[in-house]
Amino acid sequence: MATNTSFQLFSSSKDKPSLGLGFLESSEPQLPPPPPSVEVLSSEVSSSVKYTVEPVNLDGLTLLKGRVSTKEVLGLPNSDLVPGIYEGGLKLWEGSLDLVKALRSEIQNGCLSFEGKRVLELGCGHGLPGIFACLESAAEVHFQDFNAEVLRCLTIPNVNANLLEKAKPETVSEVRFFAGDWGEIHQLLPHARESEINLTSSSEHGQASAYDVILMAETIYSISAQRNLYGLIKKVFLYRVIQPLLLIVNS
Ligand SMILES: C[S@@+](CC[C@H](N)C(=O)[O-])C[C@H]1O[C@@H](n2cnc3c(N)ncnc32)[C@H](O)[C@@H]1O
Repeated sequence: MATNTSFQLFSSSKDKPSLGLGFLESSEPQLPPPPPSVEVLSSEVSSSVKYTVEPVNLDGLTLLKGRVSTKEVLGLPNSDLVPGIYEGGLKLWEGSLDLVKALRSEIQNGCLSFEGKRVLELGCGHGLPGIFACLESAAEVHFQDFNAEVLRCLTIPNVNANLLEKAKPETVSEVRFFAGDWGEIHQLLPHARESEINLTSSSEHGQASAYDVILMAETIYSISAQRNLYGLIKKVFLYRVIQPLLLIVNS
């Protein structure tokens, strides 16, 4: 998985892009302007929204996941997502569980280590892959979601619940939380460049400021978001210094 993973958003065909399952194809609605990008501090965790916690068993590894009401958090009916307003972070999607299992298996096989790494989880929602990176001694784990409310009401409580219970005190990761659209969030991310790098060039331009590992699961389902996500990856990914790992899980 790790070393030769290629990243392809668009098919090489000149015709239509080749899209995986779950994409919202053609006639996408005109979206409202995205919410402003903000860093959400751990101390801004919501105390007003009811958060209950339950265990999730991942082939022998138990993590904790919270449950909150979409109506209570966002004032929206319990829908999976509302494009441009709420992008699905309050639901735990199957792909993020598969991603944790795949990462764990790579570590067990000696193909991956998070130790000392700078990790970014894009489209985190519950944030279980990023939490797993913390438990595996990543130096920094930064969580991004479209909605600040998701971070305040779900991601931060999830991180707290899991790390208080399981993290090794000697290897506490620096965790930070960022809300906003992929088209703009690089302006806030601590390890991002202002301009994109060419992922195919041998240049090491901008290598000092980037993430070692980018994690994301079930994030790409809208054609309009693809270019922004690809552009963001080119601004935040450390290339040709540590072997890049890019694993995208969509179910
Ligand atoms: C379907 S949810 C998946 C959540 C989580 N990764 C999981 O698997 O449970 C999609 C995630 O991508 C994020 N997302 C989708 N479109 C986005 C956009 N245009 N800009 C920023 N984040 C976006 C959402 O905030 C949400 O966290």
